[in-house]
Amino acid sequence: MENALLAPRIDRMRNKTISNGGIMNYREAYTESIESPASFWGKAAEAINWDRRWDTVLDDTRLPFCQWFKGGRLNTCFNAVDRHVQEGRGSQPAIIYDSPVTGTTSVTTFQELLDRVARIAGFLKGLGVEKGDTVIVYMPMIPEAVLSMLACARLGAIHSVVFGGFAARELAVRIDDARPKAILSASCGIEVKRVIPYKPLLDEAIRIAVHKPEHCVILQRPMVEAPLVSGRDHDWTDLEAHAHPAGCVSVEATDPLYILYTSGTTGRPKGVVRDNGGHAVALAWSMKHIYNIGPGDVYWAASDVGWVVGHSYIVYAPLFVGATTIVYEGKPVGTPDPGAFWRVVSEHGVKTLFTAPTAIRAIKREDAQGAFLKPYDLSRFEALFLAGERTDPDTYHWASRLLQRPVIDHWWQTETGWAIAGNFLGLETFPVKPGSATKPMPGYNLKILDPTTAKELGPNENGMIVVKLPLPPSNLPTLWKDDERFLNSYMKPYPGYYLTGDGGYMDEDGYVFVMGRVDDVLNVAGHRLSTGGMEEVLSRHPDVAECAVVGAADDLKGQVPVGMIVLKSGVDRPHEEIIAEVVRMVREEIGAVASFKKAVVVKRLPKTRSGKILRGTMRKLADGEAVAVPSTIDDPVILDEIRNSLVTIGYGPHPKKAG
Ligand code: COA
Ligand code: AMP
Repeated sequence: MENALLAPRIDRMRNKTISNGGIMNYREAYTESIESPASFWGKAAEAINWDRRWDTVLDDTRLPFCQWFKGGRLNTCFNAVDRHVQEGRGSQPAIIYDSPVTGTTSVTTFQELLDRVARIAGFLKGLGVEKGDTVIVYMPMIPEAVLSMLACARLGAIHSVVFGGFAARELAVRIDDARPKAILSASCGIEVKRVIPYKPLLDEAIRIAVHKPEHCVILQRPMVEAPLVSGRDHDWTDLEAHAHPAGCVSVEATDPLYILYTSGTTGRPKGVVRDNGGHAVALAWSMKHIYNIGPGDVYWAASDVGWVVGHSYIVYAPLFVGATTIVYEGKPVGTPDPGAFWRVVSEHGVKTLFTAPTAIRAIKREDAQGAFLKPYDLSRFEALFLAGERTDPDTYHWASRLLQRPVIDHWWQTETGWAIAGNFLGLETFPVKPGSATKPMPGYNLKILDPTTAKELGPNENGMIVVKLPLPPSNLPTLWKDDERFLNSYMKPYPGYYLTGDGGYMDEDGYVFVMGRVDDVLNVAGHRLSTGGMEEVLSRHPDVAECAVVGAADDLKGQVPVGMIVLKSGVDRPHEEIIAEVVRMVREEIGAVASFKKAVVVKRLPKTRSGKILRGTMRKLADGEAVAVPSTIDDPVILDEIRNSLVTIGYGPHPKKAG
């Protein structure tokens, strides 16, 4: 069925092979990366400035743990900032801040970036932050968010950025896991026209958390003045004004650069660790070969620094190669109109835009004919890259027709830090098959396994997508202080392989089709969320006996969560009241970003006779798909009841699949 949907209607893109330091095409690059990873990545590492060359490119003696560039020393901030000033690009824009929500645009050159980052690192040092300490960054999309990350990297401190849309409890969980010495934050964020004070959320998170940071540094934005707690909180502007610039601290290639928490199947997020050396090498390689971006180019990842796309492609990768990055504080629509992205592309001369398909669907919904694009000069714009969820063929075709430029779907995860599969503008550009993320990236030995037998499957056979070890550079070396969970989540299910958590297939031409998560992770508007986390919130409601949250297909956001709750016996309050309460609880405890707006009360959840909840069946019901009654179900009648309840909230027989 999926193959019919994705029939190989091949759209010819520019089919080019360009010279690339001896590597002529994809096949040669890919083959070398799999057969001689040390040779391939050793050459790629020449693009990075090292304080000390590595002893070993790849140490895989402790598989499934692998270490890249062991013995090497470098500083990530030096590679992103200082080296460009030293190489004569000091007056080139490094960051363009474009904020339609505040009506502001500003430019920071590499020289100015260096001066500010060194001072911010200086005040952090003054607060006692040293190499190996953790620092949480809880910030809206303002340049200081980027500066904070770079300042931590400068000191060898480990940053952990928490997405500004997460509520206090989610922040508290991350504070307790990362145990930061300091937290960097701002007085508020702005969601279109809504000003969101951050300080009450931060204070509440610190109150709930067991670990208490020694210092909080608050950037006061003009819209909201945050009250400061004496002895703990500091005013950012004061500290920066009086700070002594700090130099770069040389760290091991294998030392952690950051922790980024991402949703797993339970409510406890996973602390994905990123190293310094492998990360810099892979990201620099990706900029040249995937995106065809180099010094002086303007590159825009329209995401948020709180997500992995923001870490890799708003902050580190563009700066590693001396490109200009854009920090955009706005939305694709509503700030002020669906032409917002095209305005930014045109005004700042963006060469490559990277966003999520959901953003394109939002623009399409409000401007199907592309009238808002017409006033803008897009002559410097070369390509649109999409990730965060599969680019459905409709969105692909619409964007291609509108933009008349390559539209490239590429697949990746927080765990990998860069694409696992994609197309290449700087190596070899393959014809697009809509619905496919194209080819595996060099370094990723992708296989499709049968979920039960673990046998490798052939072309067009659907299964678990795994990566045969070793993982390439920039992939997570482990989870923060939790090797056991790293092994259990990713490595033990299929020994010798990394489990991506995504299902799909590869066709006879080696094109990768990623069809969705095979676990309970949701993808809502390109944001990764845990159904387990939402269920934990729902079960705290005093009237709820049991619950399940599943992802239902949504034509804008890809997926949205839908709750099914079973009430405790004797509860006779109106269901609407209870539903409104659980919706509020998820918003307050996880955040509005969860988009948890709908739930139904059901008599029972469908389960197997051994008591396992049939989530896959519920997901199909919510999507209006035909459901074969599972032979193991304990009570088949319940399926009809749930189907009928879902219809009352707009789910069920009329599938709302994206595209
Ligand atoms: N701080 C506080 N609240 C936030 C927030 C933040 N940083 N980010 C989102 N929210 C809130 C929104 O205001 C919204 O609140 P509401 O329910 O009161 O309206 C809610 O969380 C859901 O946000 P969002 O998912 O952004 O939905 P939306 O309806 O506001 O916008 C899109 C829809 C498609 C325009 C938007 O999701 C989008 O731009 N997505 C692209 C995502 C992306 O770049 N992902 C990164 C991977 S590449
Ligand atoms: P995150 O860790 O937040 O980046 O989310 C990673 C998940 O998003 C992946 O495991 C996929 O399920 C999904 N995803 C990201 N990009 C793509 C893509 N291009 N195609 C299909 N799924 C994607």
